[in-house]
Amino acid sequence: QDSLYNEKNRPQFHFTTRRGWINDPNGLIYYEGEYHLFYQHNPYERDWENMHWGHAVSPDLVHWEELPDALFPDELGTMFSGSAVIDYENTAGYNKGETPAMVAFYTADSPTKQVQCMAYSLDKGRSWTKYDKNPLIDSKHIWNSKDTRDPKVFWYAPGNHWTMVLHERDGHSIYTSSDLKDWKYQSHVTGFWECPELFELPVDGNPENTKWVMYGASGTYMLGSFDGKVFTPEKGKYQYSSGAIYAAQTYTNMPDGRRIQVGWGRITHPEMPFNGMMLLPTELTLRTTKDGPRLFNVPVKETEMLFTPVHRWQNLTSDKANELLKEFYDIDCLRIKTAIKLSHATDAGFNLFGQRLVGYDMNFNTINGVFYSPEDMTSMELSADIYIDRTSIEVFIDGGAYSYSMERKPDSNNSEGFHFWGNNIEVKDLQVFSVKSIWN
Ligand code: FRU
Repeated sequence: QDSLYNEKNRPQFHFTTRRGWINDPNGLIYYEGEYHLFYQHNPYERDWENMHWGHAVSPDLVHWEELPDALFPDELGTMFSGSAVIDYENTAGYNKGETPAMVAFYTADSPTKQVQCMAYSLDKGRSWTKYDKNPLIDSKHIWNSKDTRDPKVFWYAPGNHWTMVLHERDGHSIYTSSDLKDWKYQSHVTGFWECPELFELPVDGNPENTKWVMYGASGTYMLGSFDGKVFTPEKGKYQYSSGAIYAAQTYTNMPDGRRIQVGWGRITHPEMPFNGMMLLPTELTLRTTKDGPRLFNVPVKETEMLFTPVHRWQNLTSDKANELLKEFYDIDCLRIKTAIKLSHATDAGFNLFGQRLVGYDMNFNTINGVFYSPEDMTSMELSADIYIDRTSIEVFIDGGAYSYSMERKPDSNNSEGFHFWGNNIEVKDLQVFSVKSIWN
């Protein structure tokens, strides 16, 4: 796009802002051919402070154009996280002729409390008018806690009403409304912190068999049922992703029904005028595993346009694989897809200059420290799809059954480069892809 994006440590296939700090994605919504990405933005410094809503748009979830900031601090506070909807039925009365309002819900944060507010736009999110009777919800007095924030709003069609999931103190509350202005408290689920999400997904793609997913900022989730007012969890809490990911949100108003997520990557970029980034957009699905339905998370198919296959080898010893990878030591960005057979391995993994991208431990049943048990204990095959950008690495294990992300450590003196390690391992499959920059 322009020379602003040519700095040495600018991520090449992840969204970053030109200048300043970013954290949570906000107001993720698809509307008239554009994917909107609003986000927590400090336009003035590389540190968290002074929150605005930044704004970028994309035709394809891959290439982004950063627009001027959308929401600015006001007398109620700074602009904390939230969501957006399109008010097709004009329930709030802001629509103009054929143009439905895009309505944003955010938290205004002040030293004493956090209150929930609304703003609307009639020009595809470019300019915003705040509701003249903000705040919509001021619940500090009920919860005896300052922590009431991050409203996520969606239309609940079976009940013909709007639903808001709101983080309050120790978990997520549900509120309902018919006009987006007047909100009624309904229920609360304990056990989550910040950035609530609640959505329905088919199990194994079967629309007759669905479950609701609730999560907070950390990558843990519950499955359950939802009647528009109360979320009833099934037993257990799980984790679909860990590491640098935080405060993920999913897209509203998707025309094809996909549940697409963007997570904040808690990644710093040395010597750059910006900080933080968005991780690759991923599609969330529910699939039946040996332990029941679980959330799977893989990069959206649109990201494939960034990667060109350069090599593919099969059935290698780890020594041979290490030999073949030598020509890629000098990399800027790369994607590596591999499958390792673990049958008789006590430990196994894959490093980049001594940094552990994949690390399996048979005794403790972990991958990079997180509990892992292969789906098929006979073949004992582990697959990893590894995305290496200039400052970050994302890893998707076994088709997205588990994923994690990390900062990419600057190359050390470690001469090993890419390196499979472990005993008795077989590299069943090894693919290398070159990467196109999203900024050109
Ligand atoms: C999560 C969070 C949100 C809050 C925002 C402030 O990272 O703490 O709860 O709205 O960041 O920037």
